[in-house]
Order: sequence, then structure tokens, then C-alpha cells
Amino acid sequence: MDTTIVRNSFREKFGTSGVLYFSPGRINLIGEHTDYNGGYVLPGAIDKGILTEITPNTSDRVRVYSLDLNDYVEFGLDEKDKPSASWAHYIFGVCREMIKRGARPHGFDAVFSGNVPLGAGLSSSAALESTFAFALNDLFDYDFDKKELVLIGQKTEHNYCGVNCGIMDQFASIFGKEGNLVRLDCSTMEYEYIPFNPLGYKLVLVDSVTKHELVDSPYNKRRQSCERAAAAITVNHPHVKLLGNADLEMLKEVKKLISEEDYMRAQYAIQENTRLINTCEALKQGDYQTVGRNLYATHHGMSKLYEVSTIELDFLNDTAKACGVTGSRMMGGGFGGCTINLVAEDKYDLFIDTAINRFKDKFGKEPKIYPVKISQGARRLNE
Ligand code: GLA
Repeated sequence: MDTTIVRNSFREKFGTSGVLYFSPGRINLIGEHTDYNGGYVLPGAIDKGILTEITPNTSDRVRVYSLDLNDYVEFGLDEKDKPSASWAHYIFGVCREMIKRGARPHGFDAVFSGNVPLGAGLSSSAALESTFAFALNDLFDYDFDKKELVLIGQKTEHNYCGVNCGIMDQFASIFGKEGNLVRLDCSTMEYEYIPFNPLGYKLVLVDSVTKHELVDSPYNKRRQSCERAAAAITVNHPHVKLLGNADLEMLKEVKKLISEEDYMRAQYAIQENTRLINTCEALKQGDYQTVGRNLYATHHGMSKLYEVSTIELDFLNDTAKACGVTGSRMMGGGFGGCTINLVAEDKYDLFIDTAINRFKDKFGKEPKIYPVKISQGARRLNE
């Protein structure tokens, strides 16, 4: 990302200069809606994210300018000082969550700008939380470890932004590693880097350019369905607290006790966790055909059982299949956003052309194409 624009803007607003930090958005190869179920996820950080320049000021107030929105906000650090601009909730929330964990409040000035496409399911909000969490921790020597920074970001979503999200996005943004996916066990926060360099294939996102808004969305309802199903299973199997530890047999036992809808949601979540484990094995063997089949199966589950797809995403998935794409599925929370596609190099151009043209014919707008580069997580830029 070009740092000059942020640097110039910072100097113009605050008459000085600060330190630059960057935090990325993420992709997720497989393991969708498994994080809050205590299952596994397999995300990676991307080369798009949020760049922030920041410096302490001598007051107890925060002054932040969003370059992309051309909006400036000032707020204090008490709970009652929540700013009205919704983009600023992410920053206010990070400050508050740090203070709740013992950080000493301190004012600062910041300018930020991003190149994560908004509403595309690439976790622009986690990138924003992570860049501030990482920066404040570094700037004020707060001494939170990286896992705490992840939790600070997640709690910001829960307590200040109305989304009961899992841990995946913030984890990927903070822990991402170039050329690697992160296999994260969301129940223990144990993780392992999995090198991802599929020779002969490309990973590409196709953005359905339909709105993706998790706040007040059915996202929280999906989570509740899963929690109800898990609670029913716990009665027979007390060690099972979340669906990540359950299997389909256990779910069948409670079929008559839960609603049909909760059953479908839980079935998807349990199957998805198994698919992820199987996909990691296939990745180790370099078996991309199996990886690809699993991606299609995930799409089917997200569309038919979890019901978080859209007609646009289903259409893109069908198009990928028709073009012989190895694996394709909708990605992220759902209700819009991108498909992620594992495409053999010799099919790439055909797929991209076909996807653009067919989508345009059907929906009257062009999908956007983002080739994926798995990159490094949150960091201070030394310049
Ligand atoms: C959103 C949430 C994540 C995760 C995904 C679905 O991105 O923020 O925690 O639940 O949806 O996998």
C-alpha cells in the first residue's frame, strides 16, 4: 500500500508525523461458521488491509481521521464517550477493551486508510481493529500478547459493533504468515501454520458485489441455532459444550428435541469441521482434487443447510463448476461477498472471462476479481 498519502494527510491534520502500522484482511480456505462452534478454521492473511499512522498526544482524547471516508472523529476514553460514527466504534471499542484489561488510557492522533474491499467478506473490520490493537499495544508498551490482541478485536465486535463473531478474522489478521494458512483450533486457540503453495493452481476471489452486512444480520441467529443444538447434545454428552466436539450421531439423538432449522444448521457445522480436517490431510498430500471437492461441498452446505448464500453467489459457484474450476465456494459470514476459487492455471483465463461475462449478463453489474496473495499479519512498518 502506498504510505505517502497517509503520511501527507497525517502531517496536514496534525502538523507532525507518527509511526505506521499495517494489518491485513483475510481469506479462509475452508471451515466457515466453525469458529464460534469451537471447531477449526483455515484462514490466511492477504496483501490488502488497513494502514494507520499514529502518535500519542498530550491529552486524554483520541483524534482520528478516516482518509477513505473523509471523516474526522474525536472522542474521550470513558464508556459514555462512544462516538456516533459507526466506523469509529471499532477504534473506540479497541481502546475500551484494552482499558478494561488494565491498560492505562492515553490520547492519540491517527490517520488510516485501507484497500480491503468493504462488505466483500474479507474482514475489513478485523483489519481495522487489529491495526489499532497492534499499534496501541506497541506505542504505549501495554504488553498484551498477540492472543490477547485477537480477543480485544473480537470483544470489540461483540460489545461495540453488535456482531457476535468468532475468533477467525482477528486471529488471521494478527497471526497471518506469508505463504501459509493458519489451522486454528478455535476451542483452545492452538494453531499451526500450513504452507500453502499449490503449484499449478491459482487462488482467486470473485466478488459478487452484493452487500455484506453482518450487523443485525441473521449471522447472530445462526450462532444461536448452533448453541441450542449443542445444548441439547450436552444433556446426553456432558463433555460436549459446542458443536466442534460433536458428531452426527450425537446430533441425530436430539433430532426430535430441536427445531428442523436448528438441526440443519448444526448438521452443516459438524460436517464442515470434518471437511476441514479432511482438507488439511489432502493439502499435506498435495491432493488438490480432494481439496476442491470439499470446497464445493462446503458451498452446498452453506447454501442449502446453513442458508447464508445468495443467488449471486450460487450463480458464481455454478459458473465455476461449469468452467471446470477445481474448487469453489462462497466465503466468509455470508449474505453477499466473494467466492473463493482454486483454479488450475490452464483454466484461469477462461474462468475469469466467463464469470465476468455471464454475471454481467444476468445481474447487470460486473463482479470484481481479486487474485489472492497469502501475506504477513499485523506489523509495524519501519519507514
Ligand atoms: C465472519 C465472522 C467470523 C466467522 C465467519 C464465518 O467473518 O467474523 O468469526 O464466523 O464469518 O466463518
